[in-house]
Amino acid sequence: MHILLTGGAGFIGSNFVRLLLRERPDYRITNFDVLTYSGNLENLSEIEGDDRYAFIRGDVRDAAALDKALEGVDAVVHMAAESHVDRSIMDSGPFIDTNTRGTQVLLDAWRRATGGKKRFVYVSTDEVYGSLPLENPEIKFTEATPLDPSSPYSASKAGGDLLANAYHHTFGMDICTTRCSNNFGPYQFPEKVIPLFVTNLLDGKQVPLYGDGKNVRDWLHVDDHCEAVLTVLEKGTSGEVYNIGGNNERSNLELTRSILEIMGKGEEMIRYVEDRLGHDRRYAIDAGKIKRELGWQPTRSAWPKALEDTVRWYTDNRPWWERVRSGAYQDYYANMYGG
Ligand code: NAD
Ligand code: TYD
Repeated sequence: MHILLTGGAGFIGSNFVRLLLRERPDYRITNFDVLTYSGNLENLSEIEGDDRYAFIRGDVRDAAALDKALEGVDAVVHMAAESHVDRSIMDSGPFIDTNTRGTQVLLDAWRRATGGKKRFVYVSTDEVYGSLPLENPEIKFTEATPLDPSSPYSASKAGGDLLANAYHHTFGMDICTTRCSNNFGPYQFPEKVIPLFVTNLLDGKQVPLYGDGKNVRDWLHVDDHCEAVLTVLEKGTSGEVYNIGGNNERSNLELTRSILEIMGKGEEMIRYVEDRLGHDRRYAIDAGKIKRELGWQPTRSAWPKALEDTVRWYTDNRPWWERVRSGAYQDYYANMYGG
């Protein structure tokens, strides 16, 4: 089985490559990634010599590069994306371009390569459902919840999500979609809340908590997400959507206090700052379908252990986050790959 993974140099992608090589000795994986600011080959340095792994620097908006890369591939897992909500608020252009148009270009290339007869997994997000109120904690997103994205990021992911569904419906392509909640774990770019807060604290800086800190996210360890994507790839029913979540809802204030406690810091390290524009209040996933139908459930996300391990990883890997934060790789890749 030869899988082409897009976005494999990013946070979730690099963890997916590692998990796949570890758990499926008879699989090969090609990582197709253009290496934006958040893509970093150091995330995969320990498997560089593995002959079941290959890297192609390429853009999902580049049809010719995809036609070449997809030769002999048995399945696609599409993770490449612009992924940070705050950046999408500053400039939505790259988000629509990569997340929506890039998905269309890739779907067309996969149809040319296979007639759509082989599996394609679109890694979407729970953010396509929009925001839930805090007042009704029993309500969660199910796969039947209408899409109602509220940030430019989630709207651009919803564009890809709807196209994946449309290509299944129109061309009969073998496509599954996953919608996962917030991930945490090693190799996450330190613009996202957990690595940002941990690395700020390691540098003796305060952490910027948006608004009243009451926004809720459902936290899942990245390895649980990767295991779920692999499960859908192998066992999912074509045309179906699968929610993935940790049943682990925390307010941002609760999350921040847990990090402070693990790191032996006090409340004075919290700096309340202006709220994010259009800040979604609550995300909560009902992951009953994937458990019932495919037998997946989280096994690595239990707090506080999983959060403690993650804090320790950033504590032990200061050179990694100092380098990615400084943008040092961009110059390196420009020399190596010419831009
Ligand atoms: P990330 O920003 O860490 O990684 C994205 C990767 O995509 C990078 O390696 C980047 O170089 C690559 N990329 C970007 N544009 C590209 C293009 N045009 N062509 C080829 N490669 C390109 O993101 P992540 O957090 O690892 O998220 C991966 C996927 O999972 C995304 O599709 C995201 O929407 C989805 N997702 C993320 C979360 C989360 O909590 N991080 C939750 C649910 C779903
Ligand atoms: P983030 O990691 O950006 O993920 P997402 O917006 O995709 O859920 O943010 C997680 C939560 O943390 C979100 O409610 C916004 C909040 N947040 C802060 O309070 N301060 C910050 O500096 C950041 C980056 C996020």
